[in-house]
Amino acid sequence: MTDAATRTRPGHHLGAPLVLPCGVVLKNRILKSAMSDSLGDGAGNPSAAQVALYRRWAEGGAAVSIIGEVQGDPHALEKPGNLVLADDSDTALFARLTKAGTANGAGLWAQLGHAGALSYAPLGRPRGPSALELDGLICAELSADEIDQVPVLLADTAKKAKALGFTGVQVHAAHGFLLSQFLSPLFNRRSDRWGGSLGNRARLLIETIDAVRAAVGNTFPVAVKLNATDRIDGGFSEQEAAVVITMLDETSVDLIEISGGTYFPGASSSGGGRPGEPYFLDFARRVRELTRKPLAAVGGFRTYRQAAGAVEDGTLDMVGLARALVLDPDLPGVWTTDAGIDPEFPRFESPREGAVTAWYTLRLAALGGAPLPGFPIPASSGVPDANAALAAYEARDRTRHEVWRARFGRGRAGRFSDRFSTTRVSS
Ligand SMILES: Cc1cc2nc3c(=O)[nH]c(=O)nc-3n(C[C@H](O)[C@H](O)[C@H](O)COP(=O)(O)O)c2cc1C
Repeated sequence: MTDAATRTRPGHHLGAPLVLPCGVVLKNRILKSAMSDSLGDGAGNPSAAQVALYRRWAEGGAAVSIIGEVQGDPHALEKPGNLVLADDSDTALFARLTKAGTANGAGLWAQLGHAGALSYAPLGRPRGPSALELDGLICAELSADEIDQVPVLLADTAKKAKALGFTGVQVHAAHGFLLSQFLSPLFNRRSDRWGGSLGNRARLLIETIDAVRAAVGNTFPVAVKLNATDRIDGGFSEQEAAVVITMLDETSVDLIEISGGTYFPGASSSGGGRPGEPYFLDFARRVRELTRKPLAAVGGFRTYRQAAGAVEDGTLDMVGLARALVLDPDLPGVWTTDAGIDPEFPRFESPREGAVTAWYTLRLAALGGAPLPGFPIPASSGVPDANAALAAYEARDRTRHEVWRARFGRGRAGRFSDRFSTTRVSS
């Protein structure tokens, strides 16, 4: 592997290729960031709508699309629409997905998920670094032996992803899921080698990256998504994130994608950053000099100017887009040729927690040609009903419970599942 920095500064045009440290060339600087699309078939395999959705994004011109929350352990699921990579996965369905998602020279990467303490309780086993019993978050503690198995599990999932035709993987260490839980003092109250000092809390992330790299070889992209901050008092802070970035600089990762926020109870669900600015751009500017790795940030990019500016001034090597590419999957093709057309973001009135993400998720189903009744691609006028989207989203998940259990067993029944909030949606 060439560990040498392949990025050159000052920055680049959004349409310029990017050579990753592993040697893979991405065709431009636009990353379709991970979204849990909830379009798995309920038994961990891809659906036809998912195939159509990733073809749509590939044709739209993004350099890479990342499928959110691809699981190796079905009991650590985020939602029952997740993909699960297992020995008996339907390889023909996955081949259709990876072929469609890699059309037009696009990459299709699997985000290696493990929801840990936030595992979907009706079907999973919520277990994190520490046992917690809070309003909206109840989980058991992982044993030291179980923690030792996490890098093994994610490395095996990465190997399966490669065999199934994905062209890269992303280790999910953001938003309060398992590896982010270990980084966060709010979730992680351990006093053994996995808790306490930042070095201990980051150990699982670093060991996971090393294990994943060993499983996929030196020429396969391995990215990481990391919080700049949990955006809650007592959580993982910007100062700590900067130190973790220096640790990542010593690993074999190919791309560090900065995000932020967590599903710990009481954490802010708003974007952060300066009003009207992408959320983590200031942080990216501060850490830019700390790493030779290609750097991306996601969150709050709404305009061509913001995206092009961040790459042209050398702050970022790639721009991550999520909601913008739900609203307009063709943006990468447009923005890489300098056309300054911006998507129109809907405004929601009094959405409940999780409702806006649910609305975007239902829009993904519509983009994949399988809209839920009442949720076609909406007209641009009018106020979209996010709360109705949330109800439809949750109802769809409930219909998948039996399918999931039929394939993966019953999960962790009992008091954890009974009391866990089911309103959380995005990841
Ligand atoms: C519908 C939806 C699902 C998401 N699922 C995931 C996910 O599975 N993994 C992840 O890391 N982030 C997930 N996110 C967060 C996005 O990747 C991104 O960090 C966030 O939406 C902010 O970027 P944006 O302003 O471009 O939308 C999701 C976001 C949305 C809207």
